[in-house]
Amino acid sequence: MRRAQLLGVGHYVPTKIVTNDDLAKLMPTTDEWIFQRSGIKERRFIEHSGIAPSDLAVPACQQALERAGRSIEDVDAIIFATLSPDADFPGSGCFLQRKLGRPGIPALDVRNQCSGFLYGLSIANAWVQTGAYDNILVVGAEVHSTGVEFTERGRAVSVLFGDGAGAALVGVSEDPNKGILSVKLHADGRGAEDLWIPAPMSGHTPRITHEMLDEGLHYPQMNGKQVFRWAVEKMPEVAREVLADTGLAIEDIDLFVPHQANKRINQFVAGALGIPDEKVVHNIERFGNTTAATIPIGLSESWAEGRLKDATVLSAAFGSGYTWAGALIRF
Ligand code: UT7
Repeated sequence: MRRAQLLGVGHYVPTKIVTNDDLAKLMPTTDEWIFQRSGIKERRFIEHSGIAPSDLAVPACQQALERAGRSIEDVDAIIFATLSPDADFPGSGCFLQRKLGRPGIPALDVRNQCSGFLYGLSIANAWVQTGAYDNILVVGAEVHSTGVEFTERGRAVSVLFGDGAGAALVGVSEDPNKGILSVKLHADGRGAEDLWIPAPMSGHTPRITHEMLDEGLHYPQMNGKQVFRWAVEKMPEVAREVLADTGLAIEDIDLFVPHQANKRINQFVAGALGIPDEKVVHNIERFGNTTAATIPIGLSESWAEGRLKDATVLSAAFGSGYTWAGALIRF
């Protein structure tokens, strides 16, 4: 069977930097509260209205293609992970496909929030292994800044999120010993309402009302403590699962690229697994939580720093759904 590899990774973040102090001008919060609880100092927001996740994805994909030494003509499928799609429908993958100028190839949207990139990677892995497709762009991109509430009511959520995009070109590994070694996916819908946006809701007539808007039900609602508890349990669990699947040990891991929801979560997870901090990628301080984009952004920065070369890389994510996932990749 063919083995899939991340042939190139890229990312793009908007140029507008929003610091914790900037947010403190909009609502009652402080740099100290945000940094101590989450490790975030600043995040990027789109420069103006009208910039969608698929727009951020374009330069991320171009960089991934360039690093892979491929062109858009080589791409035969797109998988787009996002929780903040350009529109309710069609999927962001279709908008991205149009912007990349590659009509006709399939464009699949994945709705698995913080685990979305790894869910997409799992699909791409299977498509390459079976020969269904040869070169798949797997994208994670989010525009959160237009969908959170910069008020006291929304501050526990709105200080955490940022806008950004990351992408990987997944194709056939030239070296059979390198590539995606394992990907494992999980979900537990019992936690669905611990992090969700209740409105608009298809089962509600009408889907959204003035009362729902007044209540702020179109903004994310989060039971932060509960999500935190699950994350620190499930991320080490799925990391051990992918290691067991491949027969590798923690000592074999050169780099850990976790989802970036909270620096404290990642320090806890790395500690539980026995991974020293110098092997852990942290960029939440600069970008906040970019949900489906955090892992490809982390990979892309690591690529630029030369940290992926011949490296065995562990990744893990946990988030809304609940969904969680892990991956082991040898570059
Ligand atoms: O990728 C998506 C997955 N999401 C996560 O993984 C998030 C997981 N959870 C967390 O990271 C943490 O729960 C948070 C960082 C979100 C919050 O930390 P916490 O220690 O759980 O704080 P809390 O929500 O219990 O709030 C503590 C206090 C409250 O005040 P009282 O009730 O103690 O008086 C909040 O009202 O902090 C207050 N608070 C704030 N104060 C200043 C909440 N948000 C803010 C804020 N600035 N932005």
